[in-house]
Amino acid sequence: MASYDLIVIGSGPGGYVCAIRAAQLGMKVACVEGRETLGGTCLNVGCIPSKALLHATHMLHEAEHNFAKMGLGGGKPKVDWKAMLAYKDDTIAQNTKGIEFLFKKNKIDWLKGWGTIPEPGKVKVGKDTHEAKNIVIATGSESATLPGVEIDEKTIVSSTGALSLGKIPKKLAVIGGGVIGLEMGSVYARLGSEVTVIEYLDRLIPANDAEVAKAFQKILKKQGMNFVLGAAVQSAEVLKTKTKLTYKLRKDDSEHTLDADVVLVATGRKPFTEGLGLDKLGVELTKRGQVATNGHFATNVKGIHAIGDAIDGPMLAHKAEDDGYACAEIIAGQAGHVDYNKVPGVIYTAPEVADVGATEEELKEAGRAYKVGKFSLMGNGRAKANFAADGFVKILADKETDRILGAHIIGPYAGDLIHEICVAMEFGAAAEDIARTCHAHPTYSEAVREAALACGDGALHA
Ligand code: NAI
Repeated sequence: MASYDLIVIGSGPGGYVCAIRAAQLGMKVACVEGRETLGGTCLNVGCIPSKALLHATHMLHEAEHNFAKMGLGGGKPKVDWKAMLAYKDDTIAQNTKGIEFLFKKNKIDWLKGWGTIPEPGKVKVGKDTHEAKNIVIATGSESATLPGVEIDEKTIVSSTGALSLGKIPKKLAVIGGGVIGLEMGSVYARLGSEVTVIEYLDRLIPANDAEVAKAFQKILKKQGMNFVLGAAVQSAEVLKTKTKLTYKLRKDDSEHTLDADVVLVATGRKPFTEGLGLDKLGVELTKRGQVATNGHFATNVKGIHAIGDAIDGPMLAHKAEDDGYACAEIIAGQAGHVDYNKVPGVIYTAPEVADVGATEEELKEAGRAYKVGKFSLMGNGRAKANFAADGFVKILADKETDRILGAHIIGPYAGDLIHEICVAMEFGAAAEDIARTCHAHPTYSEAVREAALACGDGALHA
């Protein structure tokens, strides 16, 4: 038995960042993790492996569609699926080992096993019970299930199974037109699968700006993906040679079927808090099963805190990281804070989709007077040279004060471009502040400046 200032349960982006920050602040820290490797869902079966497959298949797409245009011969590359999966696994290993190194460097003990909290101030891992002045629950989330659709991770898979399929399916059905569905859907579409996305609502990516969602769907359709919108999946039946999906169109209740070799269930995630003993401790949960916290990551039980996907707010790795950082600072008596309104969201397809702050729909609903500055990548020289001119930057600013309220980008490196606007928003900047900042030429970033100019007297290249 050992005694710690802080024990973090879970080593995902929320947990490991919290542990490192606490160690930086002088605390004696341990982190409990039951997986074979550190890094949680994000590093092992989420963000990192999916980005490896997205990168590899994006390269394939470029080779198939754009190489010849640039005078690069050689024809279509041959896909070695096993080798691609090995590249993905190697990427995971490099990253998870990196966290192990960081733990050693920061003198953080890895308590191997699944943790429970038998009483406040104590964490049990295997047979050992450790003392902790503070406990942080950073146990993340798991895939939500769907009635009538049983995940076996072989034929009917969650995002985890989708990252390690035995072979590339001829037909892939995706339930849910959100982030996972479209990222993994585009991986397999680029590999030659016939991909159909079935979405319950009448649009894709419901949390994003509607104009972006519409343009995104058009681009993905051009890339070969099929969409059935406004459809409720009833069941998925695994037959001898295929899986039969039954869905009802919401507009007329008509029933339809779709055959697929593999079905990906991507209908959201739910907090994972099972087995911690929260019931017995009396830790309050929200109606959605999240650990209830007070805005400073504290639960109703003294000394027990919670962060990341396990609590309220966007279920994103970087939000969890920020929670973890702030939570460690608060435990250390400092003033940590995370503004969830300025957490960017990124979809790592090609083109990427990125956003921060309010959507146009949200501003309308709030009755806010706003202006729109939009710039198409058709006017960006770099994008045209790189066959990446499909997309735009849209900045929403307050009509009176010009203060930036939100931004939405669809285009190459949108996930990187968005951060200029995040920083601007953190400083309460006006669109004019970005417009008057020199942007190097030729860069994709110039499109951000042009959209900011479009909030004023107008873009230059439109
Ligand atoms: P999501 O919430 O992004 O999308 C789920 C979609 O499924 C929604 O469009 C929803 O309307 C639809 N849906 C729900 N029930 C349905 C049903 N019965 N039939 C058909 N459609 C249905 O969830 P997703 O894609 O599963 O991702 C889970 C979480 O992981 C999200 O919070 C997401 O933000 C996060 N994530 C983030 C990534 C990133 O930042 N790039 C990558 C992957 C996941």
